[in-house]
Amino acid sequence: MYNIDKLYNNSNKSFIWLMRQAGRYLPEYREKRKEVGNFLDLCYNPEFAAEVTLQPISRFNFDAAIIFSDILVILDALDQEVEFVPGKGPVIKANLSKLLNLTDENVREKITEKLNPVYEAIKITRKNLSREKSLIGFTGAYWTLLAYLIEGSGSKTFHKAKIFTYDNQEEEQKIRHILCLAISTHLKNQIKSGCDIIKIFDSWAGILTNEQIKDLVIKPYKNILDSIKAEPAKKICFPRGIKENYHEFCKLNFDIYALDYTENINIAENLYKNYGKITQGNLDPAILQLNNLEKLGEEISRILTATKNIPHIFNLGHGIMPETPIKNVEFMLEKVRSFA
Ligand code: CP3
Repeated sequence: MYNIDKLYNNSNKSFIWLMRQAGRYLPEYREKRKEVGNFLDLCYNPEFAAEVTLQPISRFNFDAAIIFSDILVILDALDQEVEFVPGKGPVIKANLSKLLNLTDENVREKITEKLNPVYEAIKITRKNLSREKSLIGFTGAYWTLLAYLIEGSGSKTFHKAKIFTYDNQEEEQKIRHILCLAISTHLKNQIKSGCDIIKIFDSWAGILTNEQIKDLVIKPYKNILDSIKAEPAKKICFPRGIKENYHEFCKLNFDIYALDYTENINIAENLYKNYGKITQGNLDPAILQLNNLEKLGEEISRILTATKNIPHIFNLGHGIMPETPIKNVEFMLEKVRSFA
């Protein structure tokens, strides 16, 4: 039995993993990273990806491993040019006519073939991970993938992508069909390869208007969740920053709601009691970097206290920052595990 199932029957109160737990804050990752130049090459090297996935488990004994990959591999698999530029982040050169020409069969084939190294990495990791620990597979949600595709890079506002959705509605619907199919295919393949949890990241949901959240976030999530509803995995959703729209979002068919760090942890009980959702989160990654460990301790206790009567997955409200001291992660783990 996975520890995540014990969380459901309340016999295991502490369950913890961190967003971006395999990454640059770990010296062993930085060491390994020197061996491979290009980030995507690293994602497509099953032995490397599996080893890096397991690094934070060996060091911290987290309850779940998350497969080392990226949300943008889907765009790469669909023949869009994706490059990770050091110091700048991802750069995407879209080829929309190529994308729009893909049939459903093409989409399924491209995802399954091009992303096979990810599935191989999952199989290797599962073999080397102790049985009670979960293995999390993931994908970007529709809006966040569309945003990177159209904007061509990261952005604070994604204005270009937003404008595209208003001015090119017919095209947007076609891209939506293709990306949602690609996303659900990738999720199914990851589950088949050994993931018992999947997570769907909509990191940029919070920059949309309320109307757009309904159309570009909730609707496509419903499409994706409906097509994987029979899959034997727990489903985590992270529609970051959608605020009060969570009420509508939580009518969808999924298991765990990841609270970003701007949310009030006090809604966790409501989410559990009214919608049957377990929550995850929501420590601010900046707080995990504090020199002031007493303050860090208070913030951790605040989350643990607010969730003490319900199952809750301790995590950050967004990815861990590369500058985070290892001793702070150790301090946090000690605090979470010793909380009575
Ligand atoms: O440990 C884990 O959580 C698994 C691995 C993981 C990565 N990216 C590895 C990565 C996961 C789950 C992601 C998801 C991801 N990628 C998201 C959604 C989550 C979020 O943070 O909101 C997004 C928006 C991306 C796109 C992406 N990938 C960006 C914007 C960047 C650049 C960030 C930066 O600080 O340079 C990446 C690169 C990336 N993805 C790195 C890692 C470890 C750093 C690359 C390196 O090691 O050189």
